[in-house]
Amino acid sequence: MQVVGEINAIREIVSAKRQQGCRIGCVPTMGALHPGHISLVEECSKHVDFVLVTIFVNPTQFGEGEDLGKYPRPLEDDLAACQEAGVDCVYTPEIAALYPESYDTWVEVGDMSTILEGDCRPGHFRGVTTIVAKLFNIIQPDVACFGAKDYQQQSILRKMVRDINMPIEMIICPTIRESDGLAMSSRNRYLSTEHRQTALCLSKALEMGEQRLKSGETDISTIEQEMLKHLNSYSDVRPEYAVIRDPDSLNELENPQPEMVALIATYVGQTRLIDNRRITLKNP
Ligand code: PAF
Repeated sequence: MQVVGEINAIREIVSAKRQQGCRIGCVPTMGALHPGHISLVEECSKHVDFVLVTIFVNPTQFGEGEDLGKYPRPLEDDLAACQEAGVDCVYTPEIAALYPESYDTWVEVGDMSTILEGDCRPGHFRGVTTIVAKLFNIIQPDVACFGAKDYQQQSILRKMVRDINMPIEMIICPTIRESDGLAMSSRNRYLSTEHRQTALCLSKALEMGEQRLKSGETDISTIEQEMLKHLNSYSDVRPEYAVIRDPDSLNELENPQPEMVALIATYVGQTRLIDNRRITLKNP
């Protein structure tokens, strides 16, 4: 497995592979890898001949007061995990190479970046779309894999790729969960033992939302209020939103429809967690 930090070096490696006829797959990450990331690598390797993982804690997607400084950076463990997963190459750029002084070019998807996560974390998606566009430009992958856990992120990135005609196949992989239902996330490692237990409130509230829809409740805002009430019933839980939306546009819904997505963001103690669940109704 090659580990490369320089833009020119990664370009040379990829172009040599392409000349050999290889299809290139990219799995962008911020490191602190867990089985969710490894599942992206495994899926990616089914579609390509050369799998490249990027590890870069992207400063432009963190707002003021967020966890950029303390975001986990266990590079040795991450490289070992990549090696074991059969990754061909890891790209670990320096901040100064991607954001040199006076850097001021941004890639931004419109309205979808301003709601939900974009509302709670202003500028977050501008940072995400900019870094992913830069990584795609450097690597020029045929395929890229992202997790469904970051539901709004994957919707926005797919839109970016479509809107600006990037010739990249986007593959979205299912959320990987702990055996008790907690969605795997690099931020779970911030949770105390007690808060780890409390964090099940996200999957429970999503389950509750789905059950209410399936049992015939048609008032979406009533169900959203119930999900919030469930989250608020735990001490140390501060929900930011609990909503049921259109799964493509993420717009609000007047009435239940055959396909929906329930999305939650909440603090559990000091840790901000997100989760979501696709909901299919046979007879809305
Ligand atoms: O999902 C993440 O880990 C990050 O937002 C991403 C896509 C790697 C961009 O920094």
